[in-house]
Amino acid sequence: MSSVTQLLKQAQDEIVAADNQASLDKVRVKYLGKKGSLTSYLKELGSLPSDKRAEAGKAINDAKNSLMSEIKLRQSELQADSIASKLLLDKLDVSLPGRGQKPGRVHPITRTLQRITDIFTSAGFETRIGPEIEDDYYNFTALNIPENHPARAMHDTFYLESGELLRTHTSPVQIRAMQNEGAPIRLIAPGRVYRCDSDLTHTPMFTQIEGLAVGADISFANLKAVLYEFVSNFFEREIELRFRPAYFPFTEPSAEVDIRAESGEWLEILGCGMVHPNVLRNVDIDSEKFRGYAFGMGVDRLAMLRYGVDDLRLFFENDLPFLAQFS
Ligand code: DAH
Repeated sequence: MSSVTQLLKQAQDEIVAADNQASLDKVRVKYLGKKGSLTSYLKELGSLPSDKRAEAGKAINDAKNSLMSEIKLRQSELQADSIASKLLLDKLDVSLPGRGQKPGRVHPITRTLQRITDIFTSAGFETRIGPEIEDDYYNFTALNIPENHPARAMHDTFYLESGELLRTHTSPVQIRAMQNEGAPIRLIAPGRVYRCDSDLTHTPMFTQIEGLAVGADISFANLKAVLYEFVSNFFEREIELRFRPAYFPFTEPSAEVDIRAESGEWLEILGCGMVHPNVLRNVDIDSEKFRGYAFGMGVDRLAMLRYGVDDLRLFFENDLPFLAQFS
């Protein structure tokens, strides 16, 4: 009996001393395992005189039960300790000041595009969007640029394996809109265009905005009026324009338009002209009854002028300090 009590006392001390799951397990095996000391006591019961057996058996069983429950208790203590120390490691002080939030900004090209769109919208132009992946017909043929026409070579086109291409200008939207809606029509078509070209003033992707007005009595004078109005609105001052004769297959006559910069320099901002009768014919509009003007301008160029940026590529580098200047 006294050796059971002694063993129990010894086991209890070891349980309290066990400071992790593994050492607690060792204690359990040492006393309660198949070859554990308490277990072997049980096995020896048979060799006791029969009048002592009941009492001894009870004492050993009691000791066994109390060891089991103490081990269980210690186990849950150890578990709680380990959770608590994990929580301590992950501690988050919600009262610390935050890192701050920086509001994003609209990209300068997008801002410029919105500004241009607003000006034309308030003058009665509707917005039409066309696909960036086009086919030969819309990008060239319907615009009076037949196969083998030298203008095709000038466009530095990106071709896709499918035979389609990335549109080289927003002019194909003219064709799609006239096909769908006929005349009269008045629209602008903003969007991205692609050419295999890259230097200080060219990027492989850039932004254009196309304009088209077709009606019964539309003249070159209307085109000039709309463009003067647009430019003075856009730059918020009176601006001198210069119309230089030019050539585009889809307009006749055609012009390139320069604006007079504050430095006195002339800077080209767009191409325009009267819609070529062949183009109207391609979309089944009667060129005897209807005439139209069209223009296409480089949005990036206008953004450069408005914000005084001299390298177009800056707009596409996603440099935050650069972009943060436009608010
Ligand atoms: N599509 C021409 C280009 O990308 C620009 C252009 C010129 C558009 C004259 C027009 C136009 O609508 O009439 O270079």
